[in-house]
Amino acid sequence: MPFEFDVITLLPDMFDAVTQHGVTGRAHKSNLYRLHTWNPRNYAMNHYRTVDDSPYGGGPGMVMMAEPLDKAITDAKARQGEDGVSKTRVIYLSPQGKRLDHKKVLQISQLDGVVLLCGRYEGIDERLIENQVDEEISIGDYVISGGELAAMVLIDAVVRQLPGALGDTRSAGQDSHTDHLLEYPHYTRPEVYKEKPVPRILLSGDHAKIERWRLQQSIGRTWLKRPDLLAEKYPEGLPDREKELLEEFKQLRYRVVANQLMDNTKEQEQ
Ligand SMILES: C[S@@+](CC[C@H](N)C(=O)[O-])C[C@H]1O[C@@H](n2cnc3c(N)ncnc32)[C@H](O)[C@@H]1O
Repeated sequence: MPFEFDVITLLPDMFDAVTQHGVTGRAHKSNLYRLHTWNPRNYAMNHYRTVDDSPYGGGPGMVMMAEPLDKAITDAKARQGEDGVSKTRVIYLSPQGKRLDHKKVLQISQLDGVVLLCGRYEGIDERLIENQVDEEISIGDYVISGGELAAMVLIDAVVRQLPGALGDTRSAGQDSHTDHLLEYPHYTRPEVYKEKPVPRILLSGDHAKIERWRLQQSIGRTWLKRPDLLAEKYPEGLPDREKELLEEFKQLRYRVVANQLMDNTKEQEQ
């Protein structure tokens, strides 16, 4: 059964970006997921199809009215029910929500479907959120102009986890954050680029050594860039093998930095 996304949005065309391009486009074509959009304007109560009004109490901007959204969500939930989604979750993409992370993406990917609510203007009438929304999710601590881009980020991340979405089934499992580790670095042709050669071990054909090197790079760059992830993964400290790999990584790194410093000093002396 395909995963069901139902999106409440004033700008449905924006979602062509996910359904028609790249990995998410191929997955859509293969019917791994379905995406329906619901435009609140089609549920507006007046001839002008108005869906927003000025805020009570004054202040800048407009607020999305509850009723058109309420009706759109109700129809979206009913459609999901008819298509076999046992329990529908309504997610409001909001800067006030819990920050989206890999764990949340995995949780969502294990459901049958979700209804995604995209805000615009200053936001949505609070009563609609209280009545219809199960969860608020943010894509980061900043504000963007509408929930559509945030919904697309969520959809893309969830689709990558659906079985068959990625050509090579190992890819999603090796991505950064899958196991609280960042991914190892990648290289492709040419073998030397701007005087920088590809690490020799990757050309050796020795798969055990390549795997060890990649794990070491994963641990090393997580230590360098996101030490918080390492602490989360190993709250009791690194196991012996990982500790050994990290120590070796640090030694190699100190050597590279020392060599760079020596080169710089030589250049300055010349
Ligand atoms: C201009 S924003 C409104 C922000 C609102 N005035 C506030 O400060 O909380 C319009 C819409 O963009 C979406 N949005 C903005 N930033 C977001 C974020 N970081 N994550 C998810 N959605 C976001 C929400 O759907 C929101 O209703």
